[in-house]
This record gives sequence, structure tokens and C-alpha cells, in this order.
Amino acid sequence: MSSSSAASLLDVDLQPGKPPMLRVAPTGDAPRWAAEHRDALRAVVTDHGSVLVRGLGLRDAAEVAAVFQRLTTTGLMAEREAFASRQVYSEGVYSSTKWPPNQQMCMHHELSYTLEFPSVMLFACLGAATSGGATGVADSPTVLEALPRELVDRFEREGWLLTRTYNEDIGASWAEAFGTEDPGAVESYCRANAIEFEWQPDGELRTRQRRSAVVRHPVTGRRCWFNQIAFLNEWTMDPEVHEFLVDVYGADGLPFNTRFGNGDPIGQDVVELLTGIYEAHTLREPWQAGDLMLVDNIRSSHSRDAFEGPREVLVGMADAMRLGDSSPTVDGTTR
Ligand SMILES: [Fe+2]
Repeated sequence: MSSSSAASLLDVDLQPGKPPMLRVAPTGDAPRWAAEHRDALRAVVTDHGSVLVRGLGLRDAAEVAAVFQRLTTTGLMAEREAFASRQVYSEGVYSSTKWPPNQQMCMHHELSYTLEFPSVMLFACLGAATSGGATGVADSPTVLEALPRELVDRFEREGWLLTRTYNEDIGASWAEAFGTEDPGAVESYCRANAIEFEWQPDGELRTRQRRSAVVRHPVTGRRCWFNQIAFLNEWTMDPEVHEFLVDVYGADGLPFNTRFGNGDPIGQDVVELLTGIYEAHTLREPWQAGDLMLVDNIRSSHSRDAFEGPREVLVGMADAMRLGDSSPTVDGTTR
């Protein structure tokens, strides 16, 4: 069955400015419903880039884990190279990234700086914020088309660089990011994953990795803007946070930053252009407790709006895919 005919089994509501939405009646057995509808849901995601499922009434982390597992094809991934900490609920089921609630998390594709990333992101809401906090989505082929041709050409030619300086205070420590306290194991991981590394005199670690900014979707073959150039750039940070970090760590020692693939800094104007185009193409729907959302991680970027009040959104990264299988425009080595 083609993805379109499988998707047509579900009555998905398409409203301007909102992600595709599927309303379902409470089933009393959400994991079973997920197992029965996995192929049709995945077909909707292939056709539209994402789908928000409302009405399942997901109640707790164990139920969410069971639903996530039934929606995957090859399983949930363990996160590596995280830039901020998450709570682990169960294997492959995480809290959303701990990020200041009053700051938006800019559009990004999860783990687009790694050689193996999730092809599908799974989200479930157990508690909605009192205001804000939506998980936005944007269509990456559309974003790519909206960007200036010369800028896309440059990133296709050079790729983008992620630079990280790990420390014990801000973001994930290197032990957290690599899941080991053994420096030798970190070095082996870096060598195997095209990451340049340099230990600092104080024992901290600096890394650089060059990645493709544009990839082809494994199913549709369409070119997708697929990276974290804007989100992890210094100009996306809150200006006060930026000033503080430059003061403490120096301009070259920021916990993370992005550059053009040849090492040139990316100007504030470029970052503002990227975030403006993302915002113009963002689809968002406020969470309601019990909601489920599936997002194609290559076709769609996702963001998190600033929010007030408690918010509990769980995350699963499903069906690992290798960068090498998505027609990258650059190899992973830095120059
Ligand atoms: Fe994310």
C-alpha cells in the first residue's frame, strides 16, 4: 500500500497554521490503538511531515513508553551528544530538554549534528503549560526554498560546523553527553563519529564536527534543510545569557556555537534571517494533556515556545537513520 492510500484510512484535519490533527475517541487501551494504527500514522507523517493525535488521553509515563514502542519500526534510540540534560523515564523515553521556560527553543532537527539520528520524533503531553509551550513544526523543503539561493549554495558546498566546549556548569558535561567517564572511550567515540577533539589543560573537552546542512529525504527524495545552525548559534541565545557566557568562557569557549563549514563565523543577520523564515512557516497547536505527536525529523523541524506554568512533555527518538543514507553534500571531516 502506498503511503497516501494508507494515510487516507485516517481522517486528518488540515488547518492553516496548525499541524495536521487526528481526533480519536478514547480507546481505554492506547498502546493497542497505537499498534493497530502505526502504519497509517506513519503514512500520514510521510505525507504531511507530522501529526498531532488528540483524544487518546495518555495518562502516565509507562503508558507513553508502551505507545512509543508500538509506533517505532526499529526501536527507540538512546540519546548521545546531548547539549542539555533530560530526565530518563525509561529506556528511550526522555523528558523534553531542560531549557529556560521563558526562552523559545528555536527550530531544529533532533541530533542533526550526529552521524546517526532519529527519523521520527515522538512526543506525548502529560501536563500542558498554562500558557505557551507549543511544539511548533516547519516543513524543511519549504524553508529551504524560502532561503536565499547563495546562502543555501554556500552551506551545501561547505556544510556547517558545530563547536562545543564542555564544562561542569552549563549544559551537559562531556561525561553526560558521551555516556561515559572514560576519556579514552570519548576519544574512540569521537574518532568513530568524525568529531575532532582537544582536551584542555583544565581537563575539559573541546570538539568540532562538520555536517551536511542539506540532506535528501530517504522516502520522498526531496531536499531538506536539516541542521541546527540557528538553534545552537550564539546569536540565538538570550542577549544577557550570551554576554554572561562570553564573559565567563570567552568568545571561543562557548558551550556550543555554529559556524560556516569553512570555520567562518555566522553573522547575526544570517541567524535572524533563518529564525524569521522558520517563524513564517511554523505550524503550532497548544498542547492538551493526553496528546500524542509524531514528527518526521528530516522533513520537519521542531521548536518549543516559551511557556508559563508546569509543562510535562515526554520525548522518544525513533528509528535511527545514518547520515550517509541521506545523500549528504559534504563528508564529516573538518578542514
Ligand atoms: Fe528537539
